[in-house]
Amino acid sequence: MNLETHWNNIFEKTEDKKLGCWENDTSQTLKFLKDLDIYSNKNIFLAGAGTSILVDEIIKMSSNLILNDISDVALEKLKNRLKNFENIEFFQQDLSKNFKTKDIDIWIDRAVLHFLLDEKDIENYFENLKINLKKGGYVLFAQFRKGGATTCASLDIKQYDLEEFSKRLKDDFELIKNEEYDYINPFGNKKEYIYVLYKKIK
Ligand SMILES: C[S@@+](CC[C@H](N)C(=O)[O-])C[C@H]1O[C@@H](n2cnc3c(N)ncnc32)[C@H](O)[C@@H]1O
Repeated sequence: MNLETHWNNIFEKTEDKKLGCWENDTSQTLKFLKDLDIYSNKNIFLAGAGTSILVDEIIKMSSNLILNDISDVALEKLKNRLKNFENIEFFQQDLSKNFKTKDIDIWIDRAVLHFLLDEKDIENYFENLKINLKKGGYVLFAQFRKGGATTCASLDIKQYDLEEFSKRLKDDFELIKNEEYDYINPFGNKKEYIYVLYKKIK
């Protein structure tokens, strides 16, 4: 089964609140964003947005949202939920394939990058980030960390730590903030995340 079908099946068959990644409270992510100027017409890219309510939180901040996902079913659910809002673009794109969108001020990825296992796919993801994020822009990653869970949504994942991010981002990015965070999912299972915020300086 290809990845698009895999994720479409999940979003078709699962009520949002029963998704393994579902958060009722997105304050951990918002905490990382609060010092960034996202109130002034910024282009914010949500990589693999799923049906997360983080979208609803950010849209209140009068920014332009680009909501990406490989799953058209997830994007369709978001479209219905957000039909009263303007300044949203829906973008069905596999992040492991090369693409160009408008210039991005803030790229947010919670629980998407860690699904990429193939080296070429990971390289393409970081290439996409570098091409699409403006100089002076920020990227926030929240991924499973080293020593934590090894699977999610019936898929293997790759674990991350600061060293791995630094290796990928090289000296084009400056580390602003990082934190380990344990998230308890809707089934009561602990998922060990690492949150990292970088600024693109070159
Ligand atoms: C675990 S969910 C996380 C959803 C959301 N970011 C959140 O925090 O609730 C992973 C999401 O990434 C999407 N996804 C998986 N692989 C992807 C890829 N290669 N390109 C774009 N989206 C992808 C899935 O469809 C799904 O919506």
